[in-house]
Amino acid sequence: MRRGILTAELRAPGSTETAATVADLLREARDCLAAAGDGDGDGDGVDGDGDDAIDARVDAEVLLSHAAGLPVATQVAAAGRRVPAAPAAAFRALVARRAGGEPVAYLTGRKAFWSLELTVTPAVLIPRPETELLVETALAFAAGRRGSRRFRALELGTGSGAAALALARELPDAAITATDSSAAALQVARANYRRLRAAAGAAARTAAGDSARTVAGATARSAVGDSAPPGLGAVEFRLGDWFNALPASSRFDPPSRSRFDLIVCNPPYIAPGDPHLQRGDLRFEPRAALVSANHGLADLEKIIASAPPHLNPGGMLLLEHAHTQAAAVREMFSRHRFTVIATHHDLAGHARVTGGT
Ligand SMILES: C[S@@+](CC[C@H](N)C(=O)[O-])C[C@H]1O[C@@H](n2cnc3c(N)ncnc32)[C@H](O)[C@@H]1O
Repeated sequence: MRRGILTAELRAPGSTETAATVADLLREARDCLAAAGDGDGDGDGVDGDGDDAIDARVDAEVLLSHAAGLPVATQVAAAGRRVPAAPAAAFRALVARRAGGEPVAYLTGRKAFWSLELTVTPAVLIPRPETELLVETALAFAAGRRGSRRFRALELGTGSGAAALALARELPDAAITATDSSAAALQVARANYRRLRAAAGAAARTAAGDSARTVAGATARSAVGDSAPPGLGAVEFRLGDWFNALPASSRFDPPSRSRFDLIVCNPPYIAPGDPHLQRGDLRFEPRAALVSANHGLADLEKIIASAPPHLNPGGMLLLEHAHTQAAAVREMFSRHRFTVIATHHDLAGHARVTGGT
């Protein structure tokens, strides 16, 4: 188990400490990372703030938190404390790898998405904030489609499980299917699901215990308090190429089991020769998660063309795409006989998600 550098044991006489304090290590890492840049070659930060110095500071803090078990929020207060040799060495090794370009999320094995903390490995795309627009748009559609039947959603190309699990968190009564053509990615998604489901179950049991004690007149309250515990709906995982991951019979005459009210996908949409592939985090992410033929449009078109028999009447297909692809994607929706077609913009005003029913 990792130990925090503020624990009594690590400050006890005899513990092996370096001469370096928290402030020393952070300064050393910031200088190293700012000098290395983020690898995208334009002096911009992959974290989107456009400033390598800020990215270097944030990365250093996150890596120190990971290596030394010292939360970022406590690092200022701990600035003068000496860091034991083992976590200091682990931190310096992570900083060296980050300076070589490796994404912070792969170094820590963690990435926050929606309200979830996900495990990520180099087998999966690192979930992006842009994909939260896909989730938000999907939830707005689901909210307007309350019926007597159980809501059924499909995520194609789930990667770490980010979008499917965010939907499962927000729609605990829905039945969700998540697919990927990568067995390694699906393993990560399944592991995230099991961990989050176990945590949701534990929170529910704590809340149930609380409520039983309250009914009995006791005043005990857990950390969950009076709020409902966060649930997590049922998700099934399937391996395969887009819709071929669904049961075989459904490819020709889909039974209702293979029809959905909502299909979402963030497919690979970068053109094979795009120079961005040689920069920043993209250099380390799975090529199959990023690249698609025909200027990045081949998989988008394949999905749009194959989706209609898998949609319930009035069901929606919702796709993330590059902001330069919105017009082409709308044209494909219309060519494949979708009727109500709309593009949604992110907070920066970029057209990032298009849906059709
Ligand atoms: C851009 S990533 C999106 C990952 C995840 N949904 C997210 O938003 O973080 C695309 C995903 O599609 C998967 N993929 C690529 N080609 C596929 C195919 N033919 N069939 C199914 N999944 C595919 C990749 O393995 C990858 O996980």
